[in-house]
Amino acid sequence: MAGPNLTVPQFPAANSQQRISPSPSAGRNKVALKPGRSLMDWIRLGRSGQDLTGVGGKVLEVSVDELAKHSRPEDSWIALRGKVYNITPYLEFHPAGIDELMRGAGKDGTQLFDEVHKWVNAESMLEKCFVGRLKVVPPTSRRGSATSRGSTRSNTLSPNGSITPLNLKPPSGPQPPRQDWFQNAKSVTIVVYTKWQAMKHEFVTIDLNDRKLSINIFLETHTYRMHVELEKAIIPDYNVKVHKDNGKVEIIMPKSVTDEQWQTLGTNQSDHGTLVKTTEREVSYRHCTIQSIQEVSYDTKLLCVQLPEGTRMCVPLGYHVHIKHNISGMELARSYTVVLPSLRSSEQDILVEQGRVFYLMIKIYPDGALTPWIGGLSVGSTLEVSDIDGNFQSTQLEKSTQLILMAAGTGFTPMVRLLYQTLVEEQDSKRHVKLMFFNKTKKDILWKDQVDELQSKNDR
Ligand SMILES: Cc1cc2nc3c(=O)[nH]c(=O)nc-3n(C[C@H](O)[C@H](O)[C@H](O)COP(=O)(O)OP(=O)(O)OC[C@H]3O[C@@H](n4cnc5c(N)ncnc54)[C@H](O)[C@@H]3O)c2cc1C
Ligand code: HEM
Repeated sequence: MAGPNLTVPQFPAANSQQRISPSPSAGRNKVALKPGRSLMDWIRLGRSGQDLTGVGGKVLEVSVDELAKHSRPEDSWIALRGKVYNITPYLEFHPAGIDELMRGAGKDGTQLFDEVHKWVNAESMLEKCFVGRLKVVPPTSRRGSATSRGSTRSNTLSPNGSITPLNLKPPSGPQPPRQDWFQNAKSVTIVVYTKWQAMKHEFVTIDLNDRKLSINIFLETHTYRMHVELEKAIIPDYNVKVHKDNGKVEIIMPKSVTDEQWQTLGTNQSDHGTLVKTTEREVSYRHCTIQSIQEVSYDTKLLCVQLPEGTRMCVPLGYHVHIKHNISGMELARSYTVVLPSLRSSEQDILVEQGRVFYLMIKIYPDGALTPWIGGLSVGSTLEVSDIDGNFQSTQLEKSTQLILMAAGTGFTPMVRLLYQTLVEEQDSKRHVKLMFFNKTKKDILWKDQVDELQSKNDR
């Protein structure tokens, strides 16, 4: 296979409508890649045997000064988590464009990378571009430095007493919320005082593996994590209550053995009590099972995905998850918006509300990188699903009297829950909805019958 021409044209072209936003905070920012620059093409290039390191495959020790010399599009390196990669051949494959990727060129781009997409597995995707390790400069003086943070030191929680978490990270910025626990004969309750009035039960994800309990609470920009090896066993039939007035969250968990008295909640794990920027948290994946598959159209499927028994994950409106899989030796992760089983109230699934299953509507591209694999899955197959991701604030909706939705193709998926919430759940709402749904042909229109039905039944 001929490799792509690695000379880099000006991108976007001077007269192009494509514009690169100056920062990730400016919103999502995809560009049209040139033909032959798809992810699948990148995988093929990686397998072609061509030297993508630009240094003949030698493993170098790269100083910061050396790294800085490689900051032009025709010769660019980036350091990520202590490893240096030659990103020159990848520039034209980067889904957000060359300029965006060049922001990390010639330097340690780890923080920038994590701010934008920590869940992308660069180590796997850039494996063939590995130049060497970034030389660590020892600090001139270590005197007075604190002992290592985030160690595996653990402490215990006394009954009914709140604790001060050991790992307060970051040291400056918002403080972790206060927490407490108590018990009665039948259950154990963990209380977290988030003080966030927009708090919702969907922002609480719970995972239980044996007796290891991890709770992630999304607090807008930050995620608070509790991670405890419980003293005794519980039944993973959680009840999460949120007090809207003060943001208090109660997680009620039935004891496996009723009347058993717990002395402590359990032993804290190393990352217990941490409050980290959501973009910087470690993305964790769960092994989920496909419970059902429905054909939505000739190329799009609706998957009902069952979470592991110990997990309770309700996905907030407008949020998505990542699905990862190893394709031809490269670990790829793709994003998918969580939808509903239907736009009809009679076809809802109680297990969605309980956070035990969720639905995805996925278009299969025969020549895509990940979706051909998804298209080949059957009921009972497993897939790895990340934590929830996103930043949509549904409070924006509350004030609006008109909702104008514009979607193309599977861009319809974020509209599903908006339509359902506004037109089916909020019966008393006065909000009017317009949906402009762009598709190549009539047979590409997803759930056309359901949208038509919604329209005919609702004068808004
Ligand atoms: C937040 C978010 C939410 C999403 N939600 C959904 C969802 O709910 N449902 C859904 O189906 N998708 C959704 N997506 C899209 C999804 O993440 C994947 O991009 C999609 O599934 C395609 O993945 P793929 O790896 O199979 O295809 P890709 O390998 O990305 O290819 C897709 C198609 O584009 C073509 N192509 C790629 N590059 C080029 C190029 N340079 N020139 C010409 N053609 C090219 C390929 O040939 C193929 O036909 C979402 C994306 C985001 C970011
Ligand atoms: C450090 C500098 C980088 C910046 C500023 C940057 C920026 C971006 C932005 C803004 C997006 C669009 C995100 C979205 O639409 O939600 C994106 C997507 C992407 N980037 Fe980067 N990027 C950088 C480095 C990298 C590197 C080194 C890789 C190597 C593998 C990479 C791989 C990807 C991939 C695979 C996507 C598509 C994600 C998806 O499917 O939604 N990026 N990048």
